[in-house]
Amino acid sequence: MTRILGIETSCDETAAAVVEDGRRVLSNVVASQVAIHARYGGVFPELASRAHVEAIVPVVEEALRTAHVDWGDLDAVAVTYGPGLPGSLLVGVNFAKGAAFGRGLPLVPVNHLEGHLYAHWLETGGEEAADGRLDFPLVALIVSGGHTELLLVRGEMDYRRLGGTLDDAAGEAFDKVARMLRLGYPGGPPIEKAARQGNPRAFDLPRAWLPGTYDFSFSGLKTAVLRALRPYGDHRPARLVADMAASFQAAVIEVLAVKAARAAKAYGATAILLSGGVSANTPLRRAVREAAEVPVYALPIAFCTDNAAMIAAAGTRRFEAGERASWALDIRPGLPLA
Ligand code: KG4
Ligand code: ZN
Repeated sequence: MTRILGIETSCDETAAAVVEDGRRVLSNVVASQVAIHARYGGVFPELASRAHVEAIVPVVEEALRTAHVDWGDLDAVAVTYGPGLPGSLLVGVNFAKGAAFGRGLPLVPVNHLEGHLYAHWLETGGEEAADGRLDFPLVALIVSGGHTELLLVRGEMDYRRLGGTLDDAAGEAFDKVARMLRLGYPGGPPIEKAARQGNPRAFDLPRAWLPGTYDFSFSGLKTAVLRALRPYGDHRPARLVADMAASFQAAVIEVLAVKAARAAKAYGATAILLSGGVSANTPLRRAVREAAEVPVYALPIAFCTDNAAMIAAAGTRRFEAGERASWALDIRPGLPLA
């Protein structure tokens, strides 16, 4: 049996978790900084780093306590070393280095995106989750506030990047449009909610198809929303907000769903895996299912958004493959996956 402590601080969540055999989640603790960043409408990097410093020790202690394990019961410490915000990554990596060295445990470096992917091997009990019952090859769509990545997963830890966003991440677009509609931060949940009352065809917004590629672009859509709102000035009646939320959401979802389904077909994938905060979006899940000819798996919300159980899950694969970080492990803010 392999028991791993995962540590995640790449963005605005301070997280720690204990996972057995890359599957059983013994604990999964997340300290969210949403309240700190809400007034800025996005993550404020210096404040994020400071909040990680304050939260990291209590979060790790709680993860061990709620898992009923001690440092001596662990086989390794796995930590996110990229991609992410430099100041945020620094806190997790240096804490993990110190803790692993001090407790005589090996340190395993984990790519945050690989974590989002291996969340699908955890026993989450989610109704739409695969819980590890998967066969390669797979297509994975990772959509969050920082990433929009379409990947071909050929085997264990074997990826090919098919495409990604050329500008804003999907979640970033949700957050920016929510701000224009004065819906607060993070923007995904209130846009999804407002969209339920709106007409997705009320505004004819552009879809950036970027033909012949699996790439995405959301900045033109964002500009189109801004332009369409201009005639209303400072006036934002509920009808307008609902119609714009629905029209914007439909434009984002359509391109994501069609490209994910097309990739699955082109590469003979056995299933599509949805990860990241934006994959909490119910209409997105539905649209991908409608477009795809293979099963589409999605996670319970706590495993869509940033967490450390997914880092421990990916870390378990890396640990079992013999991967160890040296004590010189450095952060890699722009670390690619494939
Ligand atoms: O994975 P995550 O927690 O953090 C990052 O790594 O970025 O993703 C956060 C993003 C935010 O942009 C948020 O607006 C978006 O996920 N999000 C959603 C929904 N819930 C969260 N977007 C659309 N629909 C949702 N229901
Ligand atoms: Zn993430």
